[in-house]
Amino acid sequence: MTRTPQAAAEQAANELRERTGVDGYDIALVMGSGWAPAADLLGDAKHELPSSELSGFLKPAVDGHSGTIRSIGDGDRNILAFLGRTHLYEGHGTDAVVHGVRTAVAAGARTIVLTNAAGGINTDYAVGSPVMLSDHINMTAKSPLSGADFVDLSQTYSPELRAIAHDVVPDLREGVYAAMPGPHFETPAEVRMLRALGADLVGMSTVLEAIAARAAGAQVLGMSLVTNIAAGLKGANLDHQEVLATGRDSAETVGRLLADVVAKL
Ligand code: HPA
Repeated sequence: MTRTPQAAAEQAANELRERTGVDGYDIALVMGSGWAPAADLLGDAKHELPSSELSGFLKPAVDGHSGTIRSIGDGDRNILAFLGRTHLYEGHGTDAVVHGVRTAVAAGARTIVLTNAAGGINTDYAVGSPVMLSDHINMTAKSPLSGADFVDLSQTYSPELRAIAHDVVPDLREGVYAAMPGPHFETPAEVRMLRALGADLVGMSTVLEAIAARAAGAQVLGMSLVTNIAAGLKGANLDHQEVLATGRDSAETVGRLLADVVAKL
């Protein structure tokens, strides 16, 4: 019989505990494009390992996604940071995309922080600025769940965690994140459609992980870094190198903001 995704996550969580010597984690963060340097500000790195050394993890295919798991101690809490993630467009299916989140929850984490790079559809957003997710629109036509797993997504992004983030950063913007399957960027017509549907941000990650985290009973905080204006909203073409460059330029500011928020969660 093939292993269930839950059993695979529990096995990876046991290996993680053994490799890091940490019995249980409190918070896990998935660091998307541009967010990895923020991990340095979260606390002391106690252990670091290539995620592909734990069962069920793949080697990330994308430039800028390093595929490392870091175990961090910030005083009395244990924090897990995934530097890099598996995307749906890599073609390994939804279980591979959410394996990190399931592993983190199996290792005890009840708070999952999902970060990403996104195109700004809301023209009020400045390139290089962080935007907290208030909700999402899943345009991937996929779910990490199967069977009769009717998970309530009314409050996917925890109102409590968002309130804490607002206490720390009162002027933090919020927005609705639309996830497209990628790996291509959107057409201008698609961006106009997403805007009409109520999206403020567009990216290629996060939503399946958020669904898996909610299904596993964890609270989710989502954070985008606006790396570019979405396609067609200004003259220029999009390019992945621009996304990475904005990430590098903004790493320090958004990293400090994220570390300040995580310290209060
Ligand atoms: N579209 C989709 N994904 C992205 C974008 C975008 O404009 N920018 C960064 N990730």
